[in-house]
Amino acid sequence: MSPKTDWNAWHEDYEDPSSLLSERLRVVQRHIDDWLDETAPAAVSVMSSCAGDGRDLLEVLEARSDAGRVTATLLEADPRNAGRAAEHISRLGLSHVEVRCADAGMSDAYAGTVPSDLVLLCGIFGNVDDEDVHNTISSATQFCANDSLLIWTRHRRTPDLTPRIRAWFSDHGFAEEDFVAPEHSIYSVGVHRFLGDPTPLRRGQRLFTFTR
Ligand SMILES: C[S@@+](CC[C@H](N)C(=O)[O-])C[C@H]1O[C@@H](n2cnc3c(N)ncnc32)[C@H](O)[C@@H]1O
Repeated sequence: MSPKTDWNAWHEDYEDPSSLLSERLRVVQRHIDDWLDETAPAAVSVMSSCAGDGRDLLEVLEARSDAGRVTATLLEADPRNAGRAAEHISRLGLSHVEVRCADAGMSDAYAGTVPSDLVLLCGIFGNVDDEDVHNTISSATQFCANDSLLIWTRHRRTPDLTPRIRAWFSDHGFAEEDFVAPEHSIYSVGVHRFLGDPTPLRRGQRLFTFTR
């Protein structure tokens, strides 16, 4: 984990509903909510990598009466964030949602959780180098079930990597369903559907390392 960024304090911007981070969160949550509508009433699985306090998924589940059909694993390295996610889960009584305090940069962290029907890679691609972004996208075929949805985020600071990210997803069997990139901000949210068959999880692989 980065020695420079306090990833617990990073969440403070979420307390301001007018912040751009809150705006980005609402975009991600709208897609999660739409996906739950689309998949109802089936039992579905979710994997969130570098989940933070998990509010993107947990706040959506909180507002739904069918949260019980969702099995989820949140992978998060910072024990303070993992702890807040666990408290939230416990408050909601979601017995099929777990938090693993683990290094999601290692493929072993995903054992038993993938392939999933919804994969969240939010807040990763802006904090790792380009090669690790590519590496993670190549490995996403191990995370995703056939016809699953993958939601990712990345800033568009110059040089904007998002055109290459979108091409890399396409190269690996993903079809783009949405790309939200508002003019008033540098955030972006990508939504891709995995059209291929999952590849087996390769243990012992380093996928990414946070640089910030
Ligand atoms: C930018 S935040 C995004 C949090 C959440 N996904 C969101 O969008 O609100 C990045 C998160 O990744 C976590 N993190 C950093 N390195 C990690 C690693 N190697 N494994 C798991 N989590 C990590 C940080 O603690 C932080 O909570």
